[in-house]
Order: sequence, then structure tokens, then C-alpha cells
Amino acid sequence: MKCDIKDKSLRKLGKKRIEWALNRMSVLELIRKRFDKDKPLKSINIGACLHITTETAGLAVALKAAGANLSLCASNPLSTQDDVAASLAYDFGISVFAIRAESRKTYYKHIGSVLENNPRITMDDGADLVSTIHSSFAAKGNKTTNTLPWGSTEETTTGVIRLRALEKEGRLLYPVIAVNDAYTKHLFDNRYGTGQSTLDGIIRATNKLIAGSTFVVCGYGWCGRGVARRAQGLGANVIVCEVNPLYALEAVMDGFRVMPLKEASGLGDIFVTVTGDTNVITSEHFIRMKDKAIVANAGHFNVEIDLKSLDKLAAGKRDVKPLVTEYSIGTKSYTSAGTGKVIPRRAQAKPQLKRIYVLAQGRLVNLSCAEGHPAEVMDLSFANQALACEYIAKNHDNSFRRDVVEFFVMILQPLAGSVRLQVFSSASPWKSLSLNKGGV
Ligand code: NAI
Repeated sequence: MKCDIKDKSLRKLGKKRIEWALNRMSVLELIRKRFDKDKPLKSINIGACLHITTETAGLAVALKAAGANLSLCASNPLSTQDDVAASLAYDFGISVFAIRAESRKTYYKHIGSVLENNPRITMDDGADLVSTIHSSFAAKGNKTTNTLPWGSTEETTTGVIRLRALEKEGRLLYPVIAVNDAYTKHLFDNRYGTGQSTLDGIIRATNKLIAGSTFVVCGYGWCGRGVARRAQGLGANVIVCEVNPLYALEAVMDGFRVMPLKEASGLGDIFVTVTGDTNVITSEHFIRMKDKAIVANAGHFNVEIDLKSLDKLAAGKRDVKPLVTEYSIGTKSYTSAGTGKVIPRRAQAKPQLKRIYVLAQGRLVNLSCAEGHPAEVMDLSFANQALACEYIAKNHDNSFRRDVVEFFVMILQPLAGSVRLQVFSSASPWKSLSLNKGGV
């Protein structure tokens, strides 16, 4: 079995932590037991690009029980838990290619290692695996259709957006199930999972008291709603900055202050971006921020905080704690507390110095500074993923379209011990598939 991990000796710790998560993933456990009996993915090569966490281990174990040959790489260079990678490789026999804090070059080398396994099903969290397949297919002159996977699954909002863009341009080469769009994914994972783990990440990195702080959330989508609500629950005064007027109105009715980020910049103690957009916080915001403002991102890619512009503004930067970078800024201008006017640097008797703290280099704060979503919520997300893989395996030889397919998994009574699942897809001619009407 091939693998590339940091340190085999971490496997013992990884195994214990994986067991802790597995004990909290009851829906996936029921699916795993059935998979173990029926082997619906027998000898099928699956390539997955997902965050290497204890919860992902739960999914990996279920796919292995179904008979799949699974290769796994990370979907973010900073989210890998090295102990989990070691245990997956050496306790569970899964080919893992992931090392925490790997360089961009290694990150893509690891994606390449997963693709060497010639996967029939791909699984993505952010669409990097599928995008790499599309680029190499184009580089080969679009000639190798028979080696394309049967289908793929996509875990997150940003990945679905990227794939829908490919679909719209007529360039999507094979169908993708938008797992993120299943209600049993985004309603719970994005909202409660990102909500809790983002606060967890900020607190672990800074140990800052949230109560009484002014907490600015950029983006009031599924994740933003969760982050805002959890910050409020810890006693923060929450400000929401949202470009969609409907969601902005919803935030007002949910009891939050809503204003443009430019206005909120001078008020916030903590800023979190969770939009899927680029350059949400830029120099025009940094120059207005207060001394000791903390800035973090929970959106998929590290593009929401414009760190290039912060680098230009900063007189210096240094790491002051693990995953906390301090930028010292000789303020070019500041907003007078008395008059509200912006005072340019040249008019200041003594230009002020202020510090801005960026967490995890602007990468996913919940996965970089904490452990990501709790197992209970990933149980639902990964139940969707496991069933989506089974769905692709059962339906791939239909003449399916190259679409981003909507996919719904109804998980009924998950907490009552008798789980019932029903799976159906919106994409004709993909058949609807009803699983185990009398229980999984
Ligand atoms: P969503 O589409 O439900 O919400 C995004 C919101 O941001 C929208 O309401 C949009 O109008 C708003 N927005 C866009 N640009 C903005 C800007 N410049 N300023 C203010 N608001 C802006 O998406 P969702 O599901 O909330 O996901 C957001 C991001 O989080 C995505 O990148 C997604 O992939 C990622 N994600 C991260 C997770 C994590 O573990 N940290 C888990 C799930 C999703």
C-alpha cells in the first residue's frame, strides 16, 4: 500500500481519536454495517480529496467496509491531522497522501498520487481533484474519455460553485453529486458545524474572551448564520456584513446589527469572513481597524482576506503564537473618534502604530486552529457522501448527463435508534433509489 504521511508513530493517538469520533457517528455506523454485508463498492477505486480528520476517517472506514479501494489526499494544506493520517494508513490500510502544512507543490503531488489509482469515483471538498482531472484531460487533447471517472461527489459550497461554472460552460466531463446541496448537509454541517468549530478555532488560537467583544461576520449564508449565532451565544455584540439584501434583512430580523464592512471595520474586535468570495477584507478595511483586531477566515479558500495588501501596509510581521501572525501597521490614516473624519498619516503629529492579528494565514480557521466540525454533524454529511458513492456505483452505466446533480438524502429519526434512509436524485435518467424502507 502506497502512502505519504508525516510520522507512522502517531498512529496510536490517531486510532484513539478516530474511535472517539466513530462512537458519535451513529448513522454512518448503520450504513457501514450494511456496506460490510452487501459490499456495494467491491473492488471499485475511489479517490477522495477531503480534510483528513477523525470524522473523515469514519467515512473512509465505511467505504472500505463496502469493498472500495480508497486513496485519500487533503483538501487543504493546513487541515490534515497527522495522527489520523498515520492511523488510516497503518491501522485501516488506506492509501493516504497528506502531511499537515505541506507546500503547494506537495499538495498537488498528493492529488496526483490519488489520481494514479485511476479512480472510478472521485470525492471532493472544494473541487481541486475534479479540476485537476479536467486540466490534465485538456492537456491530453481531450482524448481519454474511457479513463474518466463515472461520477463524483462534492462536499462544499465553493466546490459546487466551481463545478456549476464548468457545467454552464459545457466543460463538465462527468456527473457530480452536489452533496453540499442536500438539506441533511448544509442545514446542519454548514450552520451548526461551521458555527461551533469557527468559534472553537478562534478561541483555541487566541484564548480571547468573546463575551463583550464586537464580532463582525462577513457573509450571512448557511455558515455565516451559524457563526453569528454561536458568537452571540457566547456574549459577543455581533455585526453582520452581507451583500445580498434579502439575507441582510434576515440578519436584521434575527436581531443582528447589519452594515457595510467599511463601517464595521472601525468597530470590530474580531472579524470572520465566510462568503466563498475573494478579497472581502482589503486594505480599505485594515486601515480602519482598531489596534489588536483579530482577523480570521472560515470560507473554503484562503482568498477572502487580502493578505497581499496587508503585507504592503505592514511595517513588519511576526508569528506571536502558533497560527497567529501579528502585522504592525504604521497607520496611513485613521478615523477620528470625535469627528468621524479620516485623518491622513501626513497630518498626524506622531503616526500611530497598530497591530492586526491574522489567524492561520487566512486559511479555514476551524480546521487549522481547531479540529473542524464535530462528529455528530459530520455523521449526517458523510452519510450523504457514502450513499452518494453507492448511488454512482449502482447507476453509472445509465446514459447519465454530465451535470451537477442535486441529491437528497432524507435521514429520518436519526436519533431514535431506528434510522430510515431514502435517497433520490433530481437528475433524470438517474433512477431514484430507495434504501431500506424498514431501516438501513
Ligand atoms: P452561502 O452561499 O450559503 O453563503 C455565502 C454568503 O456570503 C451569501 O449570503 C453571499 O451573499 C455572501 N457574500 C458573498 N460575497 C460577500 C461579500 N463580499 N461580503 C459579504 N457577504 C458576501 O455559502 P455557505 O454555505 O455559507 O459557505 C460559505 C463558504 O464557507 C464557502 O466557501 C464554503 O465552501 C465554505 N464552507 C466552509 C466550511 C468550513 O468547515 N469552514 C464548511 C462549509 C462551507
